Amino acid sequence: MRLTVNTVEHELVSPPLTSLLNALRDELDITGPKVGCQDGSCGTCSVIVDGEPRRSCLLPLAMVDGAEVTTIEGLGAPRSLHDVQAAFHAYYGSQCGFCTPGMVIATVALLERNPNPSREQIQNALRGHMCRCTGYVKIIDAVEAVARGESFEELEVTRSRGEEATAKGVPA
Ligand code: FES
Ligand code: FES
Repeated sequence: MRLTVNTVEHELVSPPLTSLLNALRDELDITGPKVGCQDGSCGTCSVIVDGEPRRSCLLPLAMVDGAEVTTIEGLGAPRSLHDVQAAFHAYYGSQCGFCTPGMVIATVALLERNPNPSREQIQNALRGHMCRCTGYVKIIDAVEAVARGESFEELEVTRSRGEEATAKGVPA
């Protein structure tokens, strides 16, 4: 099986019925997609496959042979966050962080197809992504902030200097 993950091409040796989630984590050591329910109902394993958000626990490798996959690792880095990651940080949209890769991936996919979603459209896009920490309001606030074009440059400069960043929201 062949996959391009975060722009890097890989030949995989995992059996064809191995889930994409397990192949990413166990063969490629890409552990951003998290192992949750493994039955498609929590969203924490979400990745982008050929432009669409998909639950990697439900995808056998055989179904994604030759695909382009983006995981949370392909979006930003600790000192150069993607805007969606910066917004989650600034608005306290992430606490334990377990659901965050899936939430961020779903948000990036939403904003790709609809750069100006309503609050209801954001809720619909994140429906089925379970979070046990934030209560969802702060996550949706973060997505709205990105959609209205809020700048996170100051946060990025602060982080790049290794200084403590001031969040915009309030903790739960
Ligand atoms: S681990 Fe895939 S949806 Fe829960
Ligand atoms: S931040 Fe902990 S599960 Fe969502």
